[in-house]
Amino acid sequence: MSQRAPTVADVVAEHDIVVCAGSGGVGKTTTAAAVGLLGAKTGRRTIVLTIDPAKRLADALGVAELGNRPTPVNLDASGSLDAMMLDQKGAWDSLVERYAESEEVRAKIFANSFYQNLSSTFAGSQEYMAIEQLSQLDTDGDYDLIVVDTPPTHHALDFLDAPQRLGAFLDRSVMKWFVRPYMSAGWSSFRLVNRTVSALFRRLEEATGVGALAEVSEFFTIMSELFEGWDDRVKRVERVLKSDRTAFLLVASAEEQILCEAEYFCSKIQEHSIELRGVVFNRVQGELGVEFGSIDHDDVDEIVGRAVESKAVRRRLVANFLRYETQARGDQLRVETFRDQLAPGIAVATVPNFEQDLHDLAGLERLRSLLE
Ligand SMILES: Nc1ncnc2c1ncn2[C@@H]1O[C@H](COP(=O)(O)OP(=O)(O)OP(=O)(O)O)[C@@H](O)[C@H]1O
Ligand SMILES: [Mg+2]
Repeated sequence: MSQRAPTVADVVAEHDIVVCAGSGGVGKTTTAAAVGLLGAKTGRRTIVLTIDPAKRLADALGVAELGNRPTPVNLDASGSLDAMMLDQKGAWDSLVERYAESEEVRAKIFANSFYQNLSSTFAGSQEYMAIEQLSQLDTDGDYDLIVVDTPPTHHALDFLDAPQRLGAFLDRSVMKWFVRPYMSAGWSSFRLVNRTVSALFRRLEEATGVGALAEVSEFFTIMSELFEGWDDRVKRVERVLKSDRTAFLLVASAEEQILCEAEYFCSKIQEHSIELRGVVFNRVQGELGVEFGSIDHDDVDEIVGRAVESKAVRRRLVANFLRYETQARGDQLRVETFRDQLAPGIAVATVPNFEQDLHDLAGLERLRSLLE
């Protein structure tokens, strides 16, 4: 007897941490919020860590103000839902606050212009901060379920590589170069001294736009203490992400290009020794023909004709509808083909393209019900 395939809700119920990953704009933030709602409705103390939610969704979750603090969402549920908006700058600041040993060190870092620039622009830091924040919430143990939204990276896997990339950037051996006293001699002489380091500086300048060497040097001197134990923290988070307490959900749409990226994600995720637990196909157009049997042009013309007198309007409505049906059939076929390649135990949910954006709790509720 074949076992019933798990639903996304089953997957959520069996894990402590759920990470929503996928290509840019597919609905990761919305799905993460709906999974959060699911957690609260199933009696769990839940927190959703969202990144750059659309303004109206942020309002609905009560996180429109930046601040990196958990905010309770007003819900009628047996559990609870807190939401937290992870902004890049705020996340760096809280990291400094957490690890700086004195008020003086803290103030010095905050005043450093290199820091100010880095904390709001450095690529990869948002991914890292999401992971750092996750680690902190997990250690504190105030929640039964932590839902993690991921930033709109070009590639969904960037999220997983971020700790190593940022770790490499802040590696102690690299830092040593920045805190050498002869650096005060300035850029030009320094460039002559060491080609590797000058290449590094160029990268830094490009990444941050800050060229003041003294600021850079000071930053690394102070930060080197702060990043004591960095490797251990990265390793710990990696362990958590790879453990069976964590489920990765892939969010995708039915578009050809997105599905190609999703396929690549599925193959690469294994290289990180992470198992994919579920896929949410979002904004998939439904075929009306499936519900009503096959519909052809004459049927539609007759039905529309009963309501619309103008021949010209009727022609356009019929053409529009049939175009939609063709597109919907394409969506269904692409999703089916992708589904067939997935391992049997992976949960799948298909979510239609709703007539409106999902920016309030009622919208999230519609999405939640489709995950069960
Ligand atoms: N099934 C749906 N039907 C209608 N609108 C949807 C649906 N899913 C998501 N949306 C809307 O699409 C927009 C993008 O969704 P969302 O912000 O969740 O995507 P994202 O993957 O987080 O994007 P980014 O990669 O930029 O962070 C939002 O305005 C959201 O309300
Ligand atoms: Mg998003």
